[in-house]
Amino acid sequence: MDKLRMVGGSPLKGEVKIAGAKNAALPILCACLLTDEPIVLRNLPDLQDVRTMLKLLQEIGVEVIFPDQDDRNHVVLNAAVIKSSEATYEMVKTMRASILVLGPLLARMHSAKVSLPGGCAIGARPVDQHIKGLKAMGASIKIKGGYIQAETKPPTERLKGASILTDMITVTGTENLLMAATLASGTTTLENAAREPEVGDLAELLVKMGAKISGIGTDRLVIEGVEKLHGAEHSVIPDRIEAGTFLCAVAAVGGEVLIQDCRPDTLDAVMVKLKEAGLQMEVGSDWIKATMQTRPMAVSFRTSEYPAFPTDMQAQLMAVNAVASGSSTITETIFENRFMHVQELNRLGADIAIEGNTAIAQGVEKLSGATVMATDLRASASLVIAGLAAQGETQVDRIYHLDRGYDRMEQKLTRLGARIERIK
Ligand code: EPZ
Repeated sequence: MDKLRMVGGSPLKGEVKIAGAKNAALPILCACLLTDEPIVLRNLPDLQDVRTMLKLLQEIGVEVIFPDQDDRNHVVLNAAVIKSSEATYEMVKTMRASILVLGPLLARMHSAKVSLPGGCAIGARPVDQHIKGLKAMGASIKIKGGYIQAETKPPTERLKGASILTDMITVTGTENLLMAATLASGTTTLENAAREPEVGDLAELLVKMGAKISGIGTDRLVIEGVEKLHGAEHSVIPDRIEAGTFLCAVAAVGGEVLIQDCRPDTLDAVMVKLKEAGLQMEVGSDWIKATMQTRPMAVSFRTSEYPAFPTDMQAQLMAVNAVASGSSTITETIFENRFMHVQELNRLGADIAIEGNTAIAQGVEKLSGATVMATDLRASASLVIAGLAAQGETQVDRIYHLDRGYDRMEQKLTRLGARIERIK
């Protein structure tokens, strides 16, 4: 398993380009199942999770073409022929987002068999809301042998429009139901819908494909089902979490970095907190110039659904708090077990205690390098940030977690002057 080895202490300087958003790319790739015409995507991030999703789609029968072999950010998907409506346990266990084929397959093929995603490191993450919504749209769903077996009754029938209110705000739940509703007969209302920018990006593509959706960006989506969707072209929205991760790296390590090809308008809650921490930011339409010459100030925060502070940025801002002056409280309200980076940060000399779903961090002057272990995607990013801020050498093991959601992060950091290398 690959490791990252770094020596902390060098400020970050230079420019970094942000890739397309993983959490937009994954539902957007599944949207190709809704039509028998080609979907052309640009700004697709070249990540492990994207490669996994492309493999799953190919197993289902989707033709995946990279027009330019060297450009992995530009892909053409053609789901004219669906060979199988099944996402196997083997596929789903490596990536929970595989659940996003359920809605589109059910809408297009009137049947789908998708392995129930197991739990994951950060929480139980059930999919009961996805199932509840599809049942409301007329699907009959059985859970058998660890699989979700869904079909419309009779199989010739389309899904039917329905009024759905999810018990909690769910990002992929909203995306699954949104995609299913585009081909249902009648109108579907999704109340309590997720407002994350990645949901909006998916909706933009669906509209380009001929879907009739109103309320995009709000918590109430109204979808008027159509018979058929056609092909379209789309460029994936920049990844706000990757951009936020680099902002936290500058805040913790110091330096001056121009972050390009990003969407500052999707980062308000993160930028408010980092400004409080003392990060200076100049902002353009698609760039942020971040400068940090002093030790950060501790900032307390709690995670919540968009547009509030994102749970996917909690571990990264905690790494900043670990070396900040003052103490801070960090409350995680979305997942029940998303503090696994705390013990690893404490191995680097941080002083963080957990009380229920709140972590209390006493900032320390300096962290000192050690070997630590990544446990999940954003925890890995947090450990890289802390390692770059620490004195001496840090090694982060199991960085396959990092590779799921970041495209060659160590190369981008090296170009910014960080002393970091990958050990095969
Ligand atoms: C998406 O996961 C993201 N993944 C996650 O990003 C992100 O952390 C999460 O949204 C919250 O923003 C993708 O978009 C691929 P949820 P998702 O459904 O959709 C509970 C990363 O690091 N819930 O919004 O799975 C659930 O347990 C990843 O890139 C139910 O109880 O999250 C959680 O507590 C990690 N039943 C809360 O709702 C359901 O049917 C929010 O989950 C669905 C969700």
